[in-house]
Amino acid sequence: MNMAITASGLRKSYGDKAVLDGVDLSIGAGTIFSLLGPNGAGKTTTVNVLTTLLKADGGTAHVAGHDLTTAPEAVRAAIGVTGQFAAVDELLTGEENLQMMADLHRLKGGERKRVVSELLERFDLAGSAKKRSSTYSGGMRRKLDLAMTLVTRPQIVFLDEPTTGLDPRSRRTMWEIVRELTSDGVTIFLTTQYLEEADQLADRIAVLDQGRIVAEGTPDDLKRQMPGSHIRLRFTTIDELDSAARALPGSTRDDEALTLRVPGSGGTKSLRLLLDRLGESAIEAEEVSVHTPDLDDVFLSLTGHATTEATAS
Ligand SMILES: Nc1ncnc2c1ncn2[C@@H]1O[C@H](COP(=O)(O)OP(=O)(O)OP(=O)(O)O)[C@@H](O)[C@H]1O
Ligand SMILES: [Mg+2]
Repeated sequence: MNMAITASGLRKSYGDKAVLDGVDLSIGAGTIFSLLGPNGAGKTTTVNVLTTLLKADGGTAHVAGHDLTTAPEAVRAAIGVTGQFAAVDELLTGEENLQMMADLHRLKGGERKRVVSELLERFDLAGSAKKRSSTYSGGMRRKLDLAMTLVTRPQIVFLDEPTTGLDPRSRRTMWEIVRELTSDGVTIFLTTQYLEEADQLADRIAVLDQGRIVAEGTPDDLKRQMPGSHIRLRFTTIDELDSAARALPGSTRDDEALTLRVPGSGGTKSLRLLLDRLGESAIEAEEVSVHTPDLDDVFLSLTGHATTEATAS
């Protein structure tokens, strides 16, 4: 397979803090790759390194066949980047923002006009083209931002958390747009905090945690590694939590929240078994809830700590 991006042993530190701690990547051309991780995992840093905005301290990478360190110009010519924070100029209208991008890339006359109007149409922004982008909703601004990235028809598009903060409908619209891009042969490098998003879009997912890739594979590969559903019990005292943890080996406790996480499907059979065990030891739970796997579960199973701890440390 033709590789759009390869990286080996990428490192980056700030002071004595290793933000990227040996990242390896291998992304096929025309595929959607998702880098999944919580706040502070190093997603934006990875994007910044691969897009030549930031110099790595170590490691090598090729983007669109060009060496990042020896041919940064060629890399820049092949890629488009939609950063985590919208690059839209709020004083300009949607149309003017796109024209500005076209001018920056020296598109002329007919082509400039055609590209701008095509993108406005494609992103459903034609009706608001003459309105100042400061009046746009978050979803419209994100779409405009992505449209601006596509002015140059890049082969590889980097999208840093394209749907964070969007409502479910805008998120779906964005997913549709991303899928359409790959049907034109574009390679997508997408970061996200949402497992569902990676699952919906990506051909391959890498899970990033504290600057290290802790798992990599197709969405199905990752799901197989994921724990199943679990049941959460909340208690009123630490003594009750202690007794429950003893009665239910294999469970994970959270002393602060006074909760116990017990693997189990949440079906009537596993619930009845669980409640019987508690009953045998005369333990009362304050609350019982059933949870299906989410990003926290993936992280807990892959790294032994929850996403919130990754943020705190
Ligand atoms: N310029 C900088 N100086 C010092 N530390 C930095 C700098 N940029 C990033 N960091 C640190 O590097 C770590 C990774 O940051 P990064 O922005 O790559 O995370 P992220 O995965 O994109 O997070 P988020 O989901 O919040 O966007 C964080 O702990 C952050 O504080
Ligand atoms: Mg980020």
